[in-house]
Amino acid sequence: MARTLRTEPLTPAIQAGFIQLGATALAMIPVAAGIDMTSAQWAIVQGAIAMRIATLAGAARWWPPLHLLFAPAVVWAHGLGVAPAWWAAAFAALAIVFGGTARTQVPLFLTAKQVRAHLGALLAPERSVRFIDLGCGLGTVLAGLKRLRPECEFHGVELALLPFLISRLLAGRAGCRIERRDIMAVDLSGYDVAYAFLSPAPMPELWAKARREMRPGSLFVSLAFPVPGAEAQQVIKVTNAPRHTLYVWRI
Ligand SMILES: C[S@@+](CC[C@H](N)C(=O)[O-])C[C@H]1O[C@@H](n2cnc3c(N)ncnc32)[C@H](O)[C@@H]1O
Repeated sequence: MARTLRTEPLTPAIQAGFIQLGATALAMIPVAAGIDMTSAQWAIVQGAIAMRIATLAGAARWWPPLHLLFAPAVVWAHGLGVAPAWWAAAFAALAIVFGGTARTQVPLFLTAKQVRAHLGALLAPERSVRFIDLGCGLGTVLAGLKRLRPECEFHGVELALLPFLISRLLAGRAGCRIERRDIMAVDLSGYDVAYAFLSPAPMPELWAKARREMRPGSLFVSLAFPVPGAEAQQVIKVTNAPRHTLYVWRI
């Protein structure tokens, strides 16, 4: 029986890891050939190779300069003489805050206070509303809305460990329900409003899920990131900054 091999595209972070490994192997060739160079010179050669590979691989425009600077930064940091345990501690701290970012391509940044007031205005005033924040970060949106509309139900899901714990503490104490789950594993059918402040990467899949699961009349709201090819019924520019624009779709 013929078998088809399905290949998933590499996430940018995994691709960056492979580029660094490839550039390191190539930069070892002159060393193996006996060419004498300092670590700083070697790092510059490695960075230039990594930058070139990233450009050829079609990486997004911010990756090539990062590849150029990575090895020189490691050599510079090594020269500071900081004890390895501090680097390990810094890595662990970053991993518990941004650990999921390599997979989800969504970092942690928070909805601004002035945007929260406009979100509150989207909740139907005459009845209790069920609201979910998909990727609720530190729970600040949920806690703020719960104070505004205590009779409504506010849920949040968050994958990254430290933000989840903080959100449990802040929004959980305010009466919101917080779970450590992937947004794609949540059943959206019971919510009147689903809110997302993520990145361009998950929007097409999330929009398809919202259209499949959400009831007619419910709202799907995205901050800063429109859904490609799906015109929003309402666009609320809270300020002129792109990350202060709300896109609202009525299902
Ligand atoms: C830009 S922050 C927004 C935080 C919060 N919603 C706010 O507006 O203040 C996005 C959050 O979504 C989380 N996230 C990204 N992808 C996720 C996923 N697939 N499942 C659960 N959480 C996710 C990230 O860890 C991050 O904390």
